Amino acid sequence: MLCLTLKHKNIVLAKVNLIENGPLVVVVEMTITHEDRTTDVKDTRASFCRCGKSENMPFCNGAHKGEL
Ligand code: FES
Repeated sequence: MLCLTLKHKNIVLAKVNLIENGPLVVVVEMTITHEDRTTDVKDTRASFCRCGKSENMPFCNGAHKGEL
C-alpha cells in the first residue's frame, strides 16, 4: 500500500492510500473545536475504483476481490 499525505502549511488536508490490487482511498479528516475547547475528530472517506469492475463507478464496490 502506498500512502500519501497532502499538507498545506503543516495542516493535513487529505490522506491518499493506494491499495495493492484495490481502490484508491481518499480520507479527509476534520477537527471540530467546541466553545469549551473540547474537540471532535471526524473523517470522511471515498474509495475510487481502479480495476474497472465496479458497477458503482467511480466508487469501489468490492468487485476487485472477485465474488461480491
Ligand atoms: S477497485 Fe474495487 S471494484 Fe474496482
